[in-house]
Amino acid sequence: MGLFENKKFLNAGVGNDAVVNQDKLIRSDVIYWLDRKHQNQYENDFFDLIDEFVAYLNRTCYTSITGYEFHYTLYESGTFYKKHIDQFQNNGSRQYSMIMYLNADWKVADGGELRIYHVDEEQNISPNNGKSVFFKSSDLAHEVLLTHKQRMSITGWLKI
Ligand code: OGA
Ligand code: NI
Repeated sequence: MGLFENKKFLNAGVGNDAVVNQDKLIRSDVIYWLDRKHQNQYENDFFDLIDEFVAYLNRTCYTSITGYEFHYTLYESGTFYKKHIDQFQNNGSRQYSMIMYLNADWKVADGGELRIYHVDEEQNISPNNGKSVFFKSSDLAHEVLLTHKQRMSITGWLKI
């Protein structure tokens, strides 16, 4: 696809547009926002699936989701994202976080686990191909541990 080689990725920020803060001590991944306006087949197919999923959630769980945002995420070797919560301090619209991993043959030695901070225990999840993580954005503190290998995903949020 060549999006990375063609320098289409942005340094990821901390906070939203109103309080943008690209702090490399907190996170050092780069991102590319997906958008139907790109008229890219892969992005459109992905959004079709998400549209179906959102309709299903709203029908069966009364979630009242009205929008979403997704980006490709790239962590180069040596990068991380420190412990955080996905909701912005000045905006509670992000309801659910979704991460879909795109890494074949991930090994323990590659690091880069997603660490979830439950109330009384921590859970590490390796970012293997085909694995998806879904959780309530306001509740769960989490971090991306230092990765020793390029780590790719689609990350996004379902919003009200
Ligand atoms: C995030 C995030 C986790 C992961 O982008 O907010 O926490 O496993 N990502 O990539
Ligand atoms: Ni997060």
